[in-house]
Amino acid sequence: MSLQERTQRQHALERAAAVVAQCRKCEIGSTRRNSAYGEGDPCAALMVVGEGPGETEDKLGRPFVGRAGELLDKMLLAIDLPREDVYICNTVKCRPTLDVGHRLANRAPTPDEMRNCRPYLEEQIAIVRPRVILALGAPAAKSFMGEKFSITKQRGQWFEGPNGTPVIATFHPAYILRQTGGAMTEVKKLVFADLKQIRARLNEPLSAPEQKPEQHSLFD
Ligand code: URA
Repeated sequence: MSLQERTQRQHALERAAAVVAQCRKCEIGSTRRNSAYGEGDPCAALMVVGEGPGETEDKLGRPFVGRAGELLDKMLLAIDLPREDVYICNTVKCRPTLDVGHRLANRAPTPDEMRNCRPYLEEQIAIVRPRVILALGAPAAKSFMGEKFSITKQRGQWFEGPNGTPVIATFHPAYILRQTGGAMTEVKKLVFADLKQIRARLNEPLSAPEQKPEQHSLFD
């Protein structure tokens, strides 16, 4: 990947993030502290898509920086992918909240919120052009594979996502953290098996259409 291409993608992502920061399509655009657009390598081979920002993400304006994010970092390292080599984002860029009186609790994004935010996610995919998308948890997986998708039955299987990008789903790190004892060990084993599939896919040589000659300018 040339430096020029990398810079262009980075700028395109920054422009898109600035648009999202002004977005008020949903009510959560007004209750958020910060949007958490996404971050990582603009030329990443792997894009990770979660559900939506939680409290820490809302505070810092970055995806997956709370407890689930810490576990995600470890999951990625288990297949030799440091966080900074991956592009990380969510199906919705603002924190979906529920007013429970004395505080705001997290909640799953509504179908309307996911629909409103979809063009931003598709734009990210179009800019980064990952080789593989990892959907974390049922809501993210359903946003790619459809409402009938079953995370327990169909995680670890490959599907075709936007622009023909291969998509695979696994359990959300927050779900892993909610398990205890042997159940946690079992879930971790399943997740590791899914992650190894990603590693194997990324280790495959680029297929012919992906091997498009790069546009190099002088002194790249
Ligand atoms: N959970 C998500 O799905 N996304 C985040 O960014 C953090 C927690």
